[in-house]
Amino acid sequence: MNIVNVDYDGLIPNNVDLARDARVKKALEKWHPGYIDWWHDMGPEGFQQALVYLRTAVSVDPKGWAKFDYVRMPEYKWGILLAPQVEARQIPFGAHKGEPAWQEVPGEYRAMLRRLIVIQGDTEPASVEQQRHLGKTAPSLYDLRNLFQVNVEEGRHLWAMVYLLQKYFGADGREEAEALLERRSGDPDTPRMLGAFNEQTPDWLSFFMFTFFTDRDGKMQLEALAQSGFDPLSRTCRFMLTEEAHHMFVGETGIGRIVEKTCTAMKAAGIEDANDIEAVRKLGVIDLPTIQKKANLHFSLTLDLFGSEISTNAANAFHAGLKGRFREDKLEDDHALESETYPVLRLVDGAIAKQEVPALSGLNMRLRDDYVAECSAGVGRWNRAIEKLGIRFEITLPHVAFHRHIGEFASIKADPAGNLSSDAQWQKRRNEFLPSDSDRAFIEGLMQPEFEPGKFASWIAAPKVGIDNKPGDFEYVKIAE
Ligand SMILES: [Fe+2]
Ligand SMILES: [Fe+2]
Repeated sequence: MNIVNVDYDGLIPNNVDLARDARVKKALEKWHPGYIDWWHDMGPEGFQQALVYLRTAVSVDPKGWAKFDYVRMPEYKWGILLAPQVEARQIPFGAHKGEPAWQEVPGEYRAMLRRLIVIQGDTEPASVEQQRHLGKTAPSLYDLRNLFQVNVEEGRHLWAMVYLLQKYFGADGREEAEALLERRSGDPDTPRMLGAFNEQTPDWLSFFMFTFFTDRDGKMQLEALAQSGFDPLSRTCRFMLTEEAHHMFVGETGIGRIVEKTCTAMKAAGIEDANDIEAVRKLGVIDLPTIQKKANLHFSLTLDLFGSEISTNAANAFHAGLKGRFREDKLEDDHALESETYPVLRLVDGAIAKQEVPALSGLNMRLRDDYVAECSAGVGRWNRAIEKLGIRFEITLPHVAFHRHIGEFASIKADPAGNLSSDAQWQKRRNEFLPSDSDRAFIEGLMQPEFEPGKFASWIAAPKVGIDNKPGDFEYVKIAE
């Protein structure tokens, strides 16, 4: 079978020759009804009969991998697609560097590898669950369609991880695949595995922040796993990254369009002071200080996803050749890091200080530093737009010690500038740093649906171009009566 083209005949579209892999095919067909039940229970609320203009992956050829068409979401073709195998690929880092990439699970690392796959897999349905109530307050059909596109692709990413579990991990893989459908975001008894994936996404500003900040953590994790010496994981992640790019786009342009609308409305009303919150809110747009507070919240929650500053798990996964660095294949060093160091911010005698640590132990921070660099590039683009629109305000990323629940800084209180304070002082100023109840109530009040083609809610600008180059008034979602 041609790896680039996808077999669409069976229940599960794939380019892994499922038709000739009876055991895995059967396992996945058995898992399928549970997935569809999960989608109905925990996927987008309402709109299941709506026709949504979605892209579906039909190939893994970078030059034309998707096709666009109207689809009812439960009929979306969730497939299993792996990027083409690189001939004679070698393990690119760690103790096994230079050996042929593994096509089967290396026995000594089985448990570690399974855990990496399960953790990644758990985030995919989690975000769908977190976003399930957003459809009814969508600011336009364009945005509604983008939400659903992200949702169905996170569903496909779950399929991607479940395929690896079913194909390579036997009975315990099957059990893990079931458990992925049983955990629920925010459930006190059976929560999703990582903190940020149990938070709520109550409004569209949160959704765009989530796709900008938290999906980008997903991207970084996929980048690190795409380097894996376990070739099927590498190939799966490489293709997932193709889809992930759209999720980043939704986040960055979503916030960009909100900022644009706020600034143009301020200009038109002659409001110079971005901190005159009351006056700005009267215009039916979201004031920039509130956008800053939401960024503080989502950035800090997402930093926790990178784990502890000093991590033996990260060191072990790298040493084993399972999880690499961001763009490992572009880095020029020995790819073993046994004698290198890496600078990490730590809590030393009650103060924040930079410390050189063994590079292997500091790998979480290295990935996080690459992440922060990308975030700050995106924030820079928002700031240039604000400046161009003639408003004096700068969105900034808070200090990495701010509002943390995992790692070195979980035990202290820092403000967004990184100044330490007592718990009591911090609590007193909390509403300056993070969205307050009244901020949330204001945003919630703005969340009125706009379902007329080509129209947008008061607080967000129209996009520069349509999806698949469609015109401005294109009906991206045909909402069933
Ligand atoms: Fe994903
Ligand atoms: Fe994503």
